[in-house]
Amino acid sequence: MHIIAVINQKGGVGKTVTTVNLAAALDEAGHDPLVIDYDPQMNATDWLMGREAEEDDATIFDALASWDGKESDRWPLSKISRSSESVGVPFVPSDSRMAAASFDSVVGRSPVFPQQFRCRVQELRTSQVRTNSNSDASYDFCLVDCPPSLGRSVATALAGADGIIVPIHTDRFSMRGVMQLQDTIKQIRKVHNDGLQILGLLLNNLDLRSNMVNEMREKFEEIYTDILFETFIPWRSKINEVATRGENIMEYEGASDAASFYLDLADEVVERSRTAATAR
Ligand SMILES: Nc1ncnc2c1ncn2[C@@H]1O[C@H](COP(=O)(O)OP(=O)(O)O)[C@@H](O)[C@H]1O
Ligand SMILES: [Mg+2]
Repeated sequence: MHIIAVINQKGGVGKTVTTVNLAAALDEAGHDPLVIDYDPQMNATDWLMGREAEEDDATIFDALASWDGKESDRWPLSKISRSSESVGVPFVPSDSRMAAASFDSVVGRSPVFPQQFRCRVQELRTSQVRTNSNSDASYDFCLVDCPPSLGRSVATALAGADGIIVPIHTDRFSMRGVMQLQDTIKQIRKVHNDGLQILGLLLNNLDLRSNMVNEMREKFEEIYTDILFETFIPWRSKINEVATRGENIMEYEGASDAASFYLDLADEVVERSRTAATAR
């Protein structure tokens, strides 16, 4: 199982759209993805749940805050993942307590901080091995939709992840953002997770009619040759529509060209994850 965090400290760059559409594409390609919503804004949860979350829905926060490594545990990820009627991909919902204040006071209190997510993921791996990989609850890709920050909560996600995908826009500020992010990754590697790899930067939301966007794209290709995905995602109204309406891009009317970008991305993600796993 490959754990992939979708991160960028900026909001509105396409983390949620990438997470959910990539999961739909992986599913379409015959894989078994699981989406984990780590963002207190709960955009992925709204999309996948197809209704407003309710108070008694178990969430990623319950899994993190309750972890104590005991058998009596109520909230392992395998128990709180649920199926998505709208998209057909299993997911773990988020809730507003994943916001910095409550996250720090509850999750940060534990002496094992920030290992909760890592431990939860490890449990999921082990339980899958135990129940054999043909069972329903068997995932080969776990995509974590992170909030727009590089704070503590994202650090816990990175501590448990194998790789990251970074959706970015083609502007100057994004370039600076990538450098900042590379620093954070170095820190995480040093302190919590030396196996963490950058799977790729994903150029998203490109207006290909703009000369400047095309020039910037070439610049990114020059500078980040080794980590940029070959696939890039242009602006498409259908991508915005599936996100707004909470639909599956693979099945959405008139979205076959948008869907094909995510299938290409899925191929690259599978390939790079395999290479990264053998390098570990
Ligand atoms: N390639 C794209 N084409 C059209 N709209 C997009 C595209 N990527 C993202 N969007 C839209 O941009 C907005 C921000 O995307 P989102 O995934 O929510 O960003 P983030 O999770 O990084 O905050 C959403 O309204 C989404 O529908
Ligand atoms: Mg988001």
